[in-house]
Amino acid sequence: MIALACDHAALDLKKDITGLLDEMGLAYKDFGTYEYASCDYPVFAARAARSVASGECDRGIVICGTGIGMSLVANKVPGIRCVVCSEPYSAQLSRLHNNSNMLALGARVIGSGTARMITKIWLETPFEGGRHQRRVDMITGVESGKYPE
Ligand code: RB5
Repeated sequence: MIALACDHAALDLKKDITGLLDEMGLAYKDFGTYEYASCDYPVFAARAARSVASGECDRGIVICGTGIGMSLVANKVPGIRCVVCSEPYSAQLSRLHNNSNMLALGARVIGSGTARMITKIWLETPFEGGRHQRRVDMITGVESGKYPE
């Protein structure tokens, strides 16, 4: 299950991404917003991020004007590794090396075609593990205050 969320700046791009998820046969849960009225992105980013952190959703995609606000909020939730990506290479490496579990996109930064390409590669790329697991564990350690000692 993929968590989805956006603010008023990104409703159209969220619809494009749900189209891609449909094509890929992936189920999603949409945490809003559902309308063009101006809203506060932290509300929706937090709902999506908490669903990923709790295990209700496997991964999440959050979209606002730049992707930045959504990613800042998502990364405040323990267990979330949310990456803002504007090109596919970073999206792919964020999976291979960082085991990113949320993707943030900027609807005012990239077009629909690029967003779909980024999202597809991010969804299809596995985590490489190995030496990267140690580093991801360090991120978790920083989050919990256990690292550095
Ligand atoms: C909304 O105007 C805009 O601030 C928001 O979509 C996002 O870009 C915030 O980071």
